[in-house]
Amino acid sequence: MEIIILPSPAEVGKLAARRIVQLVQRKPATVLGLATGSSPLAIYAELAAQVRAGHLDVSRVRAFALDEYVGIPPGHPQSYASVINREVVEPLGLDPAGVRVPDGRAHDIETACAEYEAAIHDAGGVDLQILGIGANGHIGFNEPTSSFASRTRIKTLAPQTRADNARFFEDPDEVPTHCLTQGLGTIMAARELVLVAQGEGKAGAIAAAVEGPVSSMCPGSILQFHQHATVIIDDAAARDLTLTDYYRYTYANKPAWQRF
Ligand code: GLP
Repeated sequence: MEIIILPSPAEVGKLAARRIVQLVQRKPATVLGLATGSSPLAIYAELAAQVRAGHLDVSRVRAFALDEYVGIPPGHPQSYASVINREVVEPLGLDPAGVRVPDGRAHDIETACAEYEAAIHDAGGVDLQILGIGANGHIGFNEPTSSFASRTRIKTLAPQTRADNARFFEDPDEVPTHCLTQGLGTIMAARELVLVAQGEGKAGAIAAAVEGPVSSMCPGSILQFHQHATVIIDDAAARDLTLTDYYRYTYANKPAWQRF
């Protein structure tokens, strides 16, 4: 994996956005994988700024969200469908018809999950998947001990994840207990992964994912098996890494043709 450590959360968002801009300029019909949570918000804000400035044309971009709560009322401001709409589709001006979120209201969950996988496949697969990471190492909502081969399915949220996400809800009891999430196998099928993390609350998860053993106890560690995974973090999230000098040296000496 390439590990890029930057001084501030804002720079993390800017650099990740720059990689996406570069990709969309090369391939206008890019299929993006979208993550929710606070970590990628700076990426979306920067992409929206690039669109407004006329530097980025996203008219042919399609996108698939990683996950969705199960049973959350339609139109609830914290449903991931609402969040993706508010934070990504509207500010970037994406075509809503080309953006899908797993259907957490489906009566037949298994069929809905299979259809979601088929839709990703029919779109030609995800070109670049944006990822955050949970404090317990989850990516998407693949909680610890998720199968590395898993595909889109229902999961029970870990108590820590529910507690972490309670900040988005008025009442902590309102946080759903279940979700639909792309599986680790689904995520690994994306052609490129860009994981962003900011703040020392993520330092333990980042150290486990980047330098720990590959283990389903830290689902993010599966990125070590991906052919093209980039981890972009700020100094605080890099706190528990042991090879920080090497990562900084590598980035400082990155060949110009590889830069973004
Ligand atoms: C959420 C999402 C993940 C996200 C993670 C971290 O619950 N399902 O996709 O990466 O938890 O969230 P945050 O970026 O807000 O710290």
